[in-house]
Amino acid sequence: MSLLRIKNLSGAFTSEGLAKKSGRHPKSEDCGFVQGPLDIVIDTECGKILSLGKPAPGPERELDGRGLVATPGFIDSHTHALFSGTRAREYFMRWSGKSYREISDQGGGIHNTFRSIRETRDDVLLGDLYRRLSLMRQKGTLCVEIKSGYGGTPQDELRCLRLIKRAKEDPLCPVRVRSSFLALHALPKDISESQYVDQMISLLPVVAQEKLADHVDAFPEQGFFSLKESLRFLGEALKLGLRSKVHADELTPMACVEGVVPLSSLSVDHLQKISATGIEALRNSSTVATFLPTTSFFLDLDYAPARRVIDAGARVALASDYNPGTSPEAGLQLTALLAASRMKLSAAEIFAALTINAAASLGLDGNMGRISAGFDADLNFWKLCSSDSTSQTGQELLEEIFVDSLTPALTLRGGK
Ligand code: NIG
Ligand code: FE
Repeated sequence: MSLLRIKNLSGAFTSEGLAKKSGRHPKSEDCGFVQGPLDIVIDTECGKILSLGKPAPGPERELDGRGLVATPGFIDSHTHALFSGTRAREYFMRWSGKSYREISDQGGGIHNTFRSIRETRDDVLLGDLYRRLSLMRQKGTLCVEIKSGYGGTPQDELRCLRLIKRAKEDPLCPVRVRSSFLALHALPKDISESQYVDQMISLLPVVAQEKLADHVDAFPEQGFFSLKESLRFLGEALKLGLRSKVHADELTPMACVEGVVPLSSLSVDHLQKISATGIEALRNSSTVATFLPTTSFFLDLDYAPARRVIDAGARVALASDYNPGTSPEAGLQLTALLAASRMKLSAAEIFAALTINAAASLGLDGNMGRISAGFDADLNFWKLCSSDSTSQTGQELLEEIFVDSLTPALTLRGGK
């Protein structure tokens, strides 16, 4: 066994109380702040945490953790990070009066990225992806969900999924990767909706057999896909064991949440236009509500009613939605700050949303998002102004992380 001991940490957030409450109604004391000095011991062969406890001498390799506070690595559970080209023009078009839907109807938006991805070689796409993932890691994001959805033909969707799989299986990839088959993203101009959905359904056996995706996704929205066809696709995927994470009720109220919760979806994402019945459906459900506030910021949309959803008792995650059109921002700091200022989330709620609840939205809350024996050693270590002050509460440290920094001094993925 090869062991690593991070010694004499100033403190650590274990998330223990959050785990007991399944991430619902997160409060500051649930984040499990433990005051140092503390050691974390990691088995670097299997990449898991062995223990968290009082400093002790040991035969392990050591790293000096004095002055550092440990948190679980942050998890970005909704991105479109595999893309090429720029859509900067569209950002300015929107402010001169064109809506996201109008730009898409005129062949821009997602159709724009369809074209540029097809013109870009695999090695260039992967190089760009790794550059983005390295940047995300520098900002404390250690696990990233990446969607396909910019292929727009059966062969290009499979190509995108195979590229994401290469990153996922590469031990040198800067972050841990999870992949989603976003089959229904925008309807190409030359095919009917039902034909396109049939084509995507026909890919599902290959996707399942070659393990090309961990989940599936769809975008039911006016001008994109109907809820009926989306549910047909998601239902077929579920028969093959592929659970869904769904773009839900983003631009128009589609009653999408009510539609997909019965399919035991892992998450419903966006939710600016969620209905009262949708909120009710999430109250005791294991489906996670994922908010993507940067999309509202970049598109100038309403923000999702996050307070009502959290107060109803739903599990809530936050993610970046990183993509070239509606959220050109790698990293989670803007997400965290908008969650506070526009959605009125507390630091504890943001912390839960980027760790244990984000893990649950990937079906991985038994593996990641906590500092506890047996969990993945995906860890951020923060040098904070108040790291060494024993009078500092956990809440104040989290506030400092989200507002002042979001750039950890050290990150470990699987102990490396
Ligand atoms: O989550 N809403 C659909 N998909 C993305 C946007 C993708 C794009 O515009 O390229 C989103 O906002
Ligand atoms: Fe998205």
